[in-house]
Parts: sequence; structure tokens; C-alpha cells
Amino acid sequence: MLSAGIAVRVARKTVEAEGVAGFRLVPADGERLPAFTPGAHIDVALPGGLVRQYSLCNASALDDGHYEIGVLRDAASRGGSRAMHDAVHEGSVLQISPPRNLFALDESATHSLLLAGGIGVTPLLSMAQRLAALGADFALHCCSRSAARAPYRRRLEDSTFADQVFFHHDDGPSAQRLDLASALGSPAPGRHVYVCGPTGFLEAVRTTARALHWADAQVHFESFTGAAPPADGHGSFEVELHRSGRVVHVPATMTVLDALAAEGVEIPVSCAQGVCGTCLTRVLAGEVAHHDLYLTPAEQAANDCFLPCCSRAISPRLVLDL
Ligand code: FES
Repeated sequence: MLSAGIAVRVARKTVEAEGVAGFRLVPADGERLPAFTPGAHIDVALPGGLVRQYSLCNASALDDGHYEIGVLRDAASRGGSRAMHDAVHEGSVLQISPPRNLFALDESATHSLLLAGGIGVTPLLSMAQRLAALGADFALHCCSRSAARAPYRRRLEDSTFADQVFFHHDDGPSAQRLDLASALGSPAPGRHVYVCGPTGFLEAVRTTARALHWADAQVHFESFTGAAPPADGHGSFEVELHRSGRVVHVPATMTVLDALAAEGVEIPVSCAQGVCGTCLTRVLAGEVAHHDLYLTPAEQAANDCFLPCCSRAISPRLVLDL
């Protein structure tokens, strides 16, 4: 379920690598799609009721009024990528959210280093096109298991910035493997790094960047897996349902959403990871410990709403508009 859905039609479905489908989305009603900036993603409501987040990978100038997303068929899929591959075809109409950007590009950088692991190339592809259009200094490194599994390889090889793109394949000679330390090099003012890929790839970059003394503010990570609540869960607390006056205890080991469901109070849920916004709930009193990737820092600081699938309370009690 999307609160502010836009209807789009799949104008083209393509094969962008082994196991990767590309989707070109155009407005279903002839209206223009909202503009976006590189690094933005959209929520897509899938057949079967799931909502998934996909980065927009086309150039953000939106000169021909469409969005493009790339979807890897994930063997560990909980249904999202399978639905996109098997149940979405050219002509299918989907509901999407307006674009949202939690991975914004600093266009004033003196050099941008883009590091992609597999399908993580999608937001970086949009960034690379933007940086190339600006005439900016950048390099894009794409890591994949093999050349056949490198998403958007053909497009990158045919691009005007092909000499700034470097491919690294797990099954290739060791000389072409990505040497993270030398790719990162020394931090310098104005240099920024953007990283998107599987968790292990992100962690490898994070560890190497820290060892090279890169400031966290210069290394940007994209993740569509919401931040898990801390292991201690911020302890237990209570939620009060303002409209009925009921009070529900939330143990340290349960999410607010699960604690409420156990008491028969259902809140709409989709991603259960703090990324889609489906479970957004108004907070009337109490202090929230935000763990989502959906609200902006300003929205989180306002403390008037939260995502009960992952966020918790700092105060002993939260009063909810339920
Ligand atoms: Fe997606 Fe809570 S269900 S943010």
C-alpha cells in the first residue's frame, strides 16, 4: 500500500545482465513524473501486496519523462524480486511513490568515487550520468561475479564516460580485481565516495575507508535494508493508544508493531524494515528512538511520528494517535 501513489506503466522490460531485469516506467495517465536527483529511489507496490524500494538509474534530467529501475532476481527473495521478474511485464500498471533521496550526490565535489557491488550500480549509474553531464571528475568501479552478471555493462561501455568506468569480475584474473585501498586512496577535502551493494561489500569499504582515515561524512552508503533496532532494543517501554486509552507493554525483544499485533491492534505493514513508510504512525507524546531510513532527519527531530516496525521509545511511554 502506498499513501501517495503514482500510476506508471511498464513501457519496456529489458535484460540488463544475467538475472537482472530493467524496467522503463512511464506515467499511466499522461501526467509528468516528478523530477528526481541522482541517488533517489521509489517505492513500488508489487503484485501480491509487497512494497519494495528501487533506485532510479536513468539520468535525472528527466528529458524524456520516464523512470528506469533495475531488479536482480534474488535467490533469497521474500517475493519482491520474483514478483518483478515473473509477474510484471510490458504494459503492466504499477503504483509507485514519488522519488525520495537518502543518498544525495554532492555536485560540488572535486572528485567523486562511485563503488558498485552488483545491482548496487543502479543509483551510481544515475550519478555517473549526472557527473558526466557536469563535466565533473569521477570514477565508477563496478564489481560483479562475472562479465555476464555485470548490470548495465553494455550501457556503460557505450557511454560517453566509458573511460571512467572500471569493471572487476570475481572470475577474472586477479590483476583486475578491485583493490579497495588504492581505489580509495588518501582522503582529501572535496573528495566523496558513494557505495552501494551487498552488506559485505559495504562493510569492506567502510573498514578500508576508516583504516585510511576517511571521514564518515565523505563516504556515503546506500542501503535498502532498514537499520535493525539495537540489540538491547532500548529496553522495554509502554505505548498508550490515545483513542481507547489502552496501554500495551513492548518488551525489549519485540517491535512496537508486533507488540500491538499481539494485542489485536493491526497497523498496515509492508517492508517491516523502516524504509517504505507504510506503518507511519502519529506520536502525541513521549520521545522516539528512530531507527528507520524513511523519515528525513528533520522529520525525525520533529518527534511527531514514527515507524513502529523498527523505531522504539527513549521515554518510558509513547502516546500514539491510535
Ligand atoms: Fe515499511 Fe514500517 S512497514 S516502514
